[in-house]
Amino acid sequence: MLNKTTTLTEFLLQDERRFKKATGNFTLLLTAIENAVKIIASHVKKSGLVDILGSAGTTNIYDEEVQKLDKFSNDILVETLTKTGHVSAIVTEELEKPELIKTDYGEYVVYIDPLDGSSNIDVNLNVGTIFSIHRKPDNIKSDADLLLKGSDQVAAGYVVYGPSVMFIYTCGNGVNGFTLDPSIGSFLLSHPDMKVPETGKSYAINESYYHRYPEYIQKYLDFIKKEDEETGKPYTLRYASAMIADIHRVLIKGGIFLYPENSKSPNGKLRLMYEVNPMSYIVTQASGSATSQDNNPLEIQPKSLDERTPIVLGSKKMVSEFLSFLK
Ligand code: AHG
Ligand code: MN
Ligand code: MN
Repeated sequence: MLNKTTTLTEFLLQDERRFKKATGNFTLLLTAIENAVKIIASHVKKSGLVDILGSAGTTNIYDEEVQKLDKFSNDILVETLTKTGHVSAIVTEELEKPELIKTDYGEYVVYIDPLDGSSNIDVNLNVGTIFSIHRKPDNIKSDADLLLKGSDQVAAGYVVYGPSVMFIYTCGNGVNGFTLDPSIGSFLLSHPDMKVPETGKSYAINESYYHRYPEYIQKYLDFIKKEDEETGKPYTLRYASAMIADIHRVLIKGGIFLYPENSKSPNGKLRLMYEVNPMSYIVTQASGSATSQDNNPLEIQPKSLDERTPIVLGSKKMVSEFLSFLK
């Protein structure tokens, strides 16, 4: 037998057989996302060529209209998902209204942040795509019917467009990571059964808001910077200004990521349905912890599609240490 690694497609097909709940249609949906992110990845790679190929709003040397990368990523994902016929609604950070797709067999609803960390594009740093998949509610009459709790997700994932392109994915049976092999154009299983280390050394937060944070966050930040050899403090600061990159570090090396409430943004910045829910699902599936103040983010009943919520994600021990400040 050939000794070769598993491609994402092979893995999804195996999953379909292992977990009876997955169907061929679900596999098709994920394959559509895989195809879309490969196209996005190839465009992200060309982002530094804007001066040569044309900036947003102009026509490029191929006579194509140049779009901003976040809009481009959004359109590719919406188009690819719509074509599958298995999606009945797509809710994205880039569209004001959900895209409702009328098919008789669209069994899923997908929430997307098409390009997370988009301000990093200008400086050639990590960006990503985040997705969250739910089963379609019985009857979608209005936006209110799309306010689904994170605990109802059937799958979630993110893609990092970094030095290599990685696809991280869970359908509730652990987390697996795939790396794009550009020479064959396939994602290969490179990080099977990912686990967030129980503890870590780094923290990620926008510390410039220190004076806007509530007292318990300030106290926590003071605490983790105190010298303490036994517990490995001070923790070291790593902030990518792209949640996908910060969470990816946590998944591989452990650590803690925080986007808490502050006086200017009482609910923080991150969106419950496109960012917090999928990332909380992934981190907890990888044995890490997620908390929104002292609530389980996956149990929050969303009141609007663009709702924001404070979030802390990371290594179990570090999140529980953080929670001891929240009293
Ligand atoms: P997006 O590019 O999708 O708008 O998301 C950016 C988000 C998130 O990825 C990151 O953690 C956060 O913005 C950074 O915000 P601050 O600049 O306030 O730190
Ligand atoms: Mn984002
Ligand atoms: Mn975005």
